[in-house]
Amino acid sequence: MEHTSVKDLLNAASIGKTAIAKGWVRTKRGNKNVAFIALNDGSTIHNLQLVADPTKFDEETLKKITTGACIRAKGEVVASQGSGQATEMQVSELEVYGEADVDTYPLQKKGHTLEFLREIAHLRPRTNTFGAVLRIRHNMAFAIHKYFNDRGFFYLHSPIITGSDAEGAGEMFRVSVLDAENPPRNEEGKIDYTQDFFGKETNLTVSGQLEGELGAMALGKIYTFGPTFRAENSNTPRHLAEFWMIEPEMAFHDIVDNQDLAEDMLKYLINYALTNCKDDVEFLNNMYDKELLARLQSVVDKPFKRMTYTEAIDVLVPNKAKFEFDVEWGTDLQKEHENFLVSHFGGPVILTDYPKHIKAFYMKQNDDGKTVRAMDVLFPWIGEIIGGSQREENYDKLLQRMNEMHIPEKDLWWYLETRKFGTCPHAGFGLGFERLVLFVTGMSNIRDVIPFPRTPKNAEF
Ligand code: 4AD
Ligand code: MG
Repeated sequence: MEHTSVKDLLNAASIGKTAIAKGWVRTKRGNKNVAFIALNDGSTIHNLQLVADPTKFDEETLKKITTGACIRAKGEVVASQGSGQATEMQVSELEVYGEADVDTYPLQKKGHTLEFLREIAHLRPRTNTFGAVLRIRHNMAFAIHKYFNDRGFFYLHSPIITGSDAEGAGEMFRVSVLDAENPPRNEEGKIDYTQDFFGKETNLTVSGQLEGELGAMALGKIYTFGPTFRAENSNTPRHLAEFWMIEPEMAFHDIVDNQDLAEDMLKYLINYALTNCKDDVEFLNNMYDKELLARLQSVVDKPFKRMTYTEAIDVLVPNKAKFEFDVEWGTDLQKEHENFLVSHFGGPVILTDYPKHIKAFYMKQNDDGKTVRAMDVLFPWIGEIIGGSQREENYDKLLQRMNEMHIPEKDLWWYLETRKFGTCPHAGFGLGFERLVLFVTGMSNIRDVIPFPRTPKNAEF
């Protein structure tokens, strides 16, 4: 007989059926007349209550059923008397697959801090919090594919190992098989990467955008969704060294189309979570952040405020005294400035047309000679959730900007060729997947929305 998920067993439609449940014990309580076991199998935040008559089971088996143990239970599903759920199971058979020693199992009934749980990331998916976060994370990934598929975008797999620096920021992890202790050297005494695996210097990608552009200029509308890597030493609650990014890229789209897509997609995803992850979002709302549900709903309901960087500076400068970091036209915005704008306008803000010297080489240059068609989406709680732009489609302008910014032409000859052969106006953006999950779950640290976070000095598990 196959087992049924706890989620299905909790459905009133299961009442009257004999079924098998398998999962991990959250708690066991009771007395010599009755035992109550709360069972969770990860299919839902809710536990199935198993009700057993201790006189019908051998003592050894019952003793092994402690918090953390993995068990199988067979019994009749009945309407629940008082477990807070619609159903419970009257158990007739119990089997213990794996015990969990009471003295050493780290996840006891009492609550644990999120910091402590990070140290036991191999077990934290078994907590209510991480179960909820990981189910929401899955749902967001699924909804992203659905959103793009339903709108005619194609999923393009951009490479993870590359020979270029897509953002030109030099924050890359090297990929090499050379002997680190004693690498081969060329005549100049430099490391000879021609002898390396790929015959050249390679690194983990910081973004799939450049390859995404190649896809868009053939398939029309594409998106990438994969891991990206940044060796930036940012030890903040918003940065990971390994994170997932979604990068749509669209031929024949300009900066306004780009904003429309970003806003529509974010609203779709948040609405999807409100509809399809209700129990988990409600749990997190009650547990950590009583304003979570209201904040999510308000983002779905209201239009995003759109303005240029220059207009934002005009809002920020008169409030200079409130900030730790100086702000004037030309400075990159700090988190405190982004937060100010978001609370000033009471919701998400899309900023465009940033000074060119603080943005990447590929962004389309405006006629003013000072700004580029960049687009950042700023979110309450998060700050920058999306970064993107319309792209420079003019070969000469792109090459000139690459030279100005010391981007090696030899690494990007293939990218430049798209501007030689059938170039067209196009635009795209990158959504940080963990920042989206952070927003939807209301968690406060990005390390708590990815199963196994990679951050400076941390690659355990
Ligand atoms: O703004 P970024 O650097 O833009 C790009 O990489 C472009 N190539 C995207 C594009 O136009 N196709 O990164 C995009 C987003 C950020 O807005 C942020 O949400 C997320 O990626 N991000 C990070 N998330 C977690 N940890 C980090 N270290 C991140 N760096 C960027
Ligand atoms: Mg950015």
